[in-house]
Amino acid sequence: MQTENGNKTKTRLFRVSEENFDAVLDEAAAIIRRGGTVAFPTETVYGLGADGLNPDAVRKIFEAKERPPGNPLSLLVHSREDLGKIAKNIPEKAFRLMDAFWPGPLTIVLEKNDIVPEITSGNLPSIGLRMPDHMIPLELIKRAGTPLAAPSANLSGKPSPSLASHVLADLTGRIDAVIDGGGAAIGLESTVVDMTVEPPVVLRPGAVGIGELERVIGKVRPAYGESEAGAGEAMPEKKAGQKYSHYAPDAQVVLVEGGIKKVSEKIDTLLENYRREGKKVGLLLSDETAGFFASERLSAHECFLLGSREGPEEAARRLFEGLRVLDAKGLDVILADGSFNPSGLGAALLNRLREAASVRHAV
Ligand code: TXA
Ligand code: MG
Repeated sequence: MQTENGNKTKTRLFRVSEENFDAVLDEAAAIIRRGGTVAFPTETVYGLGADGLNPDAVRKIFEAKERPPGNPLSLLVHSREDLGKIAKNIPEKAFRLMDAFWPGPLTIVLEKNDIVPEITSGNLPSIGLRMPDHMIPLELIKRAGTPLAAPSANLSGKPSPSLASHVLADLTGRIDAVIDGGGAAIGLESTVVDMTVEPPVVLRPGAVGIGELERVIGKVRPAYGESEAGAGEAMPEKKAGQKYSHYAPDAQVVLVEGGIKKVSEKIDTLLENYRREGKKVGLLLSDETAGFFASERLSAHECFLLGSREGPEEAARRLFEGLRVLDAKGLDVILADGSFNPSGLGAALLNRLREAASVRHAV
């Protein structure tokens, strides 16, 4: 589908260096102040920013991403200065979370003030706020003088972008500029916690785990079921953001979850079955799971290695890259390794794998 904005805008690419940082940030801020759209790195994933208090600017985000109207955007802020302007009835626990995790990968949902346009909040009475831990958006917000509405800078339904090249692949011709500031350090979107209810509800798992939240504010409830990684299935109606599907590559993603030995054996069997059916299969594996297969066997297929299962950091950073790389190969099926330890960042990783998957095997 071509949007009104589709492939008509000339998208500028800014590569930031120490020398041009000031000039680039000033230009990008001028685009935001004029009501334009700029994509930029954050520590989680690349965001697509526009003046979050300007409905016409925010509309451009929805058009460029082909994001379903009504899916709420969150706002990025550079300090707590404007909090009282944007949100009201802020509970004391929310300030404790800001003390503990800002700047960082935590989006805090609060009651919104009227200054936040309906289109930004998806007509909800609340708004998600985050202070990113990255110089580029912090400076951009400061220089533009407005909080930025900033969803992930991908086409709706594609994996979130962890590199500027992912943004360019999805949004060239649809947005005014992209700032290339290298790879996103975490690679998965922020944890989202709704502080308008008691106990607070975790709407999306991210790098800030349930345990870390509970150490600071006590009991929280995951909106997505018992396991910390969540079910990756339909969410309760109230959980606005979560009712829209994410991370859907064109190939069918088949996820195998469990201990490493059983997961490896199951992937082995599935690989053989799909091969016999004449399907073109790709593999998304941890280093350890890949080690289970003979190298000739692996080299017969497209294979993307996520890194070690031991620390989920590398796999988290590489996941969306892996989904994009494999999806570009015209595969029928992607067999994905779900043997990661399901807590903290590992839970967020499994959550995104589950959302990408259309078939799940637990072994
Ligand atoms: O790490 C991140 O959060 C990245 C970077 C760019 O900051 N942004 C991001 O934005 O992932 P987005 O729009 O792709 O995801 C924000 C999530 C969505 O699931 C959205 O529906 C939910 O937060 N959300 C935002 N405001 C909400 C609200 N008022 N109530 C419930 N959910 C909300
Ligand atoms: Mg997104």
